[in-house]
Amino acid sequence: MSAAPRTPRPRRTPPPPPPRRAGGPRLPGIRPAALPAAGSPDWYRRAVFYEVLTRGFFDSNNDGIGDIGGLRAKLDYLEWLGVDCLWLLPYFPSPMRDGGYDISDFFTVHPNLGTLDDLVAFLDDAHRRGIRVIADLVMNHTSDQHPWFVESRSSWDNPKADWYVWNDDDQRWADARVVFVDVETSNWTWEQSRQQYYWHRFYSHQPDLNYENPEVVEAMFDVVRFWLDLGLDGFRLDAVPYLFQRDGTSGENLPETHALLRRLRKEMEAVYPDRVMLAEANQWPADLVDYFGDGDECHMCFHFPLMPRLFMAVRREQRFPVTEILAQTPVIPDGCQWAIFLRNHDELTLEKVSEEERDYMVAEYVKDPRMQRHMGIGRRLAPLLDGDRRLAQLLYALLFSLPGSPVIYYGDELLMGDNLYLGDRDSVRTPMQWSPDRNGGFSRADFAQLYLPPLMDPVYGFESVNVEAQQRNPSSFLHWIRSILQTRKQFPVFGTGSFEVVPCANPSVLAYVRSPHPPAPDTTTAAPDKATRGGRAGRVGRSGRAGAGRGDGAVEVVSNPVLCVHNLSRFAQPAELDLARWAERTPVELLGRVPFQSVGSATYGVTLGPYGFYWFELMDHDPMGRGDGNDGAPG
Ligand code: GLC
Ligand code: CA
Repeated sequence: MSAAPRTPRPRRTPPPPPPRRAGGPRLPGIRPAALPAAGSPDWYRRAVFYEVLTRGFFDSNNDGIGDIGGLRAKLDYLEWLGVDCLWLLPYFPSPMRDGGYDISDFFTVHPNLGTLDDLVAFLDDAHRRGIRVIADLVMNHTSDQHPWFVESRSSWDNPKADWYVWNDDDQRWADARVVFVDVETSNWTWEQSRQQYYWHRFYSHQPDLNYENPEVVEAMFDVVRFWLDLGLDGFRLDAVPYLFQRDGTSGENLPETHALLRRLRKEMEAVYPDRVMLAEANQWPADLVDYFGDGDECHMCFHFPLMPRLFMAVRREQRFPVTEILAQTPVIPDGCQWAIFLRNHDELTLEKVSEEERDYMVAEYVKDPRMQRHMGIGRRLAPLLDGDRRLAQLLYALLFSLPGSPVIYYGDELLMGDNLYLGDRDSVRTPMQWSPDRNGGFSRADFAQLYLPPLMDPVYGFESVNVEAQQRNPSSFLHWIRSILQTRKQFPVFGTGSFEVVPCANPSVLAYVRSPHPPAPDTTTAAPDKATRGGRAGRVGRSGRAGAGRGDGAVEVVSNPVLCVHNLSRFAQPAELDLARWAERTPVELLGRVPFQSVGSATYGVTLGPYGFYWFELMDHDPMGRGDGNDGAPG
């Protein structure tokens, strides 16, 4: 993008062709895809994200590799599931030595995955269904096969000589840590033809771009504009803390990096006001919040420190790992949002825990040394939990009710397993399991041709875990996820509300209230509901929910606070909650719409089964028309 001010373009007007200095023209005749109708600019605060590996999802041409056509073919499923935004892992040309994060051309699609036309058609279809799509933007580095690097490494005086970070010795920036400690010994690698070292924060085949060079910044802004013009709804900014280096620092989170991101936001917003920037910064909370700037940097940021603490809390059967990290998390600027997750395409990272906590996590979750990958654990959600469905439901209940927008990793909605015998991150990147048919319904290619073998073990293999079977069984995990997502969608307060921990003497109980932000005065009047709605005695209709439909079209009708109570223990637990602030309100359980006893002046008693949880709408009147607050336990 140029630095000159740009006038906002009306939506749906085809933009002028972007300058393609870096990649050359590739798009004759392709028009930008339509954007979702009636989107609100902060749609991402109410959205549920779904992370998908294109090559692992569905193979539409039976060559053994999932592709863009396959994503398109499975939009019915994704719409049925009820997700709002897909995050596509890198789909660019790549030698595939880091799962596609080693990009050799930023301006097109990997030939194995399809064409740009396929991508545009897919975006159009997704948007028509109200599903948005973001993709990885790998700004920090390229593959060593990228023509930019091939040129840069060739001599000292070629036009791209300064596009990467070169040095005569390998001693500079010694304070910068090596990220892949188990694979790389230094952030410098010797280049024979230049007789110099080049800098890389990840694998040695991924040289870092030199953002001190304005040409590099311009080239990357061209990449951004190219994909936004094509219709992408935003980016996950991969490995974003490392864009700059400076003497005497760790080379992470430098002011220069933040300044560049703010510039990117400004230029992006001028032309594409409803697109989103989601930062991948594996940092402590105090450093993480800097990626929001003053609301003028990234819209979203993954909450990395929270993730391992959810797993710690359920193993310790104590809420403190979660409440402590949330207490250390500063308030974020208006319009910003956390992205929260249980698992993703990488190992369960243990970078942001103390050494003691790391030892604990390894002792609890690493049953076989093969499970350890880089500084983390290369397992999927279900095997981490020994396949315990109640525990998985509890963790999803936390994911869907803690502050932030949840990100589901493909296959984890089925409780798919992993394959420890595959290298690096491939353990958690096996084909999506669609049916009990050949190759799990993923592809009709010969087994030997598949990009990775599907799981075939008796516990997690595709014969026992697959979409078709779970869609047919109304009590499957998949149906459970779908229905809790529908419930969540009806209460936008889960996305946008404030968060307050409710005191409780039992350490196994994690209770909190999500309130409309700013908290509604006690005079809020909720439309009275018909207590008989739904036909089951003792159930009431909904009042605190948004209008039906997708997150971005949602209208907040009435906003009552929602009380969430979770039992992190494998045994039944009593909870005495201090709900004094919500005295007189009547908790109505969200999934069944069953009203409980109103809150009185004493503590409020709830009994929870093993890994049990309740979400209650705190209504300001008793929908059953019963008397005043009751001091007793609701039983
Ligand atoms: C991010 C990606 C990871 C990749 C790394 C380097 O952390 O999630 O998969 O290896 O960046 O690109
Ligand atoms: Ca294919």
